[in-house]
Amino acid sequence: MEPVRAHITTYGCQMNRLDAELVAERLRASGARVVDDPAEANVLLFVTCSVRAHAEDRAFSNIGALKARKRREPGLVIGLLGCTAQQYGDRLRSRAPLVDVVCAPGRLAELPQLIQAARTNRAAPVVALDPPRGATHTQPDRVGGAEAFAAADAALDEVETRRPLGGPSPGHAFVTVMRGCDNFCAYCVVPNVRGPERSRTPSAVLEEVRRLVGQGARQITLLGQAVNKYASRQDGRTCDLAGLIEKVAETPNLARLRFITNHPRAMTERLAAVFRNVPAVCPYLHMPAQSGSDAVLARMKRAYTASEYIDRVAMVRGVRPEVAVASDFIVGFPGETAEDFEATLDLVRRMRFSHAFVFKYSPRPGTFAAEHYEDDVPMAEKRRRNQVLLDLVRKVAGQENRRFIGRTVNVFVEGPSPHPNLHPEKGTGSFSGRMEKVPVPFSAACRGWLQLRGRTPGNRIVVFDGPADLAGAEVDVEVVDSSPLTLFAHLAQAM
Ligand code: 5AD
Ligand code: SF4
Repeated sequence: MEPVRAHITTYGCQMNRLDAELVAERLRASGARVVDDPAEANVLLFVTCSVRAHAEDRAFSNIGALKARKRREPGLVIGLLGCTAQQYGDRLRSRAPLVDVVCAPGRLAELPQLIQAARTNRAAPVVALDPPRGATHTQPDRVGGAEAFAAADAALDEVETRRPLGGPSPGHAFVTVMRGCDNFCAYCVVPNVRGPERSRTPSAVLEEVRRLVGQGARQITLLGQAVNKYASRQDGRTCDLAGLIEKVAETPNLARLRFITNHPRAMTERLAAVFRNVPAVCPYLHMPAQSGSDAVLARMKRAYTASEYIDRVAMVRGVRPEVAVASDFIVGFPGETAEDFEATLDLVRRMRFSHAFVFKYSPRPGTFAAEHYEDDVPMAEKRRRNQVLLDLVRKVAGQENRRFIGRTVNVFVEGPSPHPNLHPEKGTGSFSGRMEKVPVPFSAACRGWLQLRGRTPGNRIVVFDGPADLAGAEVDVEVVDSSPLTLFAHLAQAM
């Protein structure tokens, strides 16, 4: 049998991106090659997302489009991995008949064996699911069941700890600190597909961080669905997220530390204090509000009111005023009235979010909302609210960004800008005319510079011209212009 050449397509959140890295590492360790071009691959893997129907539909339609290729290449193995695998389980076959391997998020460490089994026996799909969890949205208090995940988690930890640095951008790595979720927000499929909350031990997290920093990572983002519920119990003592952050921040050469995603309910004074006490912690807080209406928040089972959300943000900003707060919002949740939506707009005006993701409510099978509430906001109205909210978010973010003009900010350079604009004067760029407004102090293009993209400590996007080898480094830049999503800058010192 010819060796495995796998291609991985990823949908969804940061957690899925990290899962894709783990899949790649696991495959390489088994002797497989991971290729960039799907045409070269004999194994096509899809790390899927079930959070909204849209992401799921995209994966299914991309897999469906492989029909002709599969007929031409009967040996081609198609794997559907991650959240959608667990969501559909054995029923997947009817929705995606081309799929040969179905693998839940917790079972990814077994992937090489699953692929091998699928290649030797082409008769039926190979299915590896996570154990069913004890709790459901009807009995959210029946938590536990984490023990059933222990062996699979240990295997994943092993892969994650061993993987080389090679994440989202040079010098930046994601590290899992918590898996699963026990919150059962009414709209959300995650607790069903990622299992109960399990916190990794501080020593496992520290080992991984030290290793990644030893390989050149300067920026670490700790990941969990509700990361601030982190609690690792060992020898009768509990380490919470603040304790973990303090330990991680002691790693020499670690410059920037972030932790996402935070649940407002679990934001404590102790955690807020890390924004002051731990210099490596970036002034960035991703803490989704989801709605500004108490009635909607209650129906969402978010367990806080809008004013409690405001208090938690105030607590953090009281400790460090420049913290950039980012949120997620769902519009058109069942029963959301015009006044409810107005309350969300008010929250955005008051909170001055630096950024917010806006989603149209999408009923997900197996969730409390899908089973108990009618999806009664018409699609046209969801679209309208989506646009109105996005426009406001951009307006506020644009006003906040303008305050940076004239300031020098430290930027962590991710690499070339995805909308490169080497010769703005010649109009080859795709930055919708923005570049004309950026004074370029010397002829950057002549020196072979690129337009680079980076992030401020508060996670704002900055573009500026500079040498490509700055990727992965930190530099000071002077902000000269801004738009709602981007700061435009030039290097503070000529290089
Ligand atoms: N419909 C729309 N948006 C959703 N999200 C989660 N579930 C749904 C759903 N059923 C959004 C929430 C969450 C983000 C990751 O996705 O805003 O914070
Ligand atoms: Fe979903 Fe709520 Fe858990 Fe976030 S905290 S993953 S929205 S259930």
